[in-house]
Amino acid sequence: MTIHCSDLAKVYEGGKSGWPALRGLSFGIKPGEFVSVTGPSGCGKSTLLNIIGLLDEPTGGAYRLNGRDVVTLSDEERSRTRRDEIGFVFQSFHLLNRLSALENVCLPLRYAGAGGDEMRARAASLLARVGLHGKEKKTPLELSGGERQRVAIARALANSPKIILADEPTGNLDSASSREIMDSLFALNAEGITIVMVTHDKELAARTGRNIRMRDGRIES
Ligand SMILES: Nc1ncnc2c1ncn2[C@@H]1O[C@H](COP(=O)(O)OP(=O)(O)O)[C@@H](O)[C@H]1O
Ligand SMILES: [Mg+2]
Repeated sequence: MTIHCSDLAKVYEGGKSGWPALRGLSFGIKPGEFVSVTGPSGCGKSTLLNIIGLLDEPTGGAYRLNGRDVVTLSDEERSRTRRDEIGFVFQSFHLLNRLSALENVCLPLRYAGAGGDEMRARAASLLARVGLHGKEKKTPLELSGGERQRVAIARALANSPKIILADEPTGNLDSASSREIMDSLFALNAEGITIVMVTHDKELAARTGRNIRMRDGRIES
């Protein structure tokens, strides 16, 4: 999947003239790249990631995913594209604490129409892939932060996305867990999954193939 944005803008509603969060970003990301996005708090990183991930819409500019204009898609097509092509990983995991690790990974499979033993087997194999074999029945509260984030990565992989978008995935983790999560992300990237990761950590950013530095809603370099 090629990501291509030109003159991308986002103005949030509010105040007299709204709040400009993105002020004209142009860039492309090729299939298989691992790109980090850095910049000061409030510069628009999450806004950008949410637009790339079709969770939010730009108010200006163009966004093409694999050559296709995704800004003008119907809500239904956007949801389907998001479900089939994109996996999300968030700083605060976004797991359901009353469900087991396995059930958390089953959720997106269920939305995509899967069910039964086949679905549970797939969820178990995804958990094994991120090193959580044997922890299927634990709830998030019974797991460490690093383990929770690995459940979230397994869930993000459920529908075999071509792109993983991670918003400060190691932001709540100690350095050992951060390393585990980065190893998981690098392994997925080696399998061909495109990764766009927002991070505050300059050392992590330096390890990715490319870094987009943002400032005040623009790309600095
Ligand atoms: N839903 C929203 N409504 C209004 N303003 C928002 C909203 N989300 C973010 N903003 C504002 O847009 C700017 C960029 O936010 P964000 O993309 O979250 O930055 P970052 O992730 O780099 O910290 C900030 O000034 C923030 O306050
Ligand atoms: Mg953010």
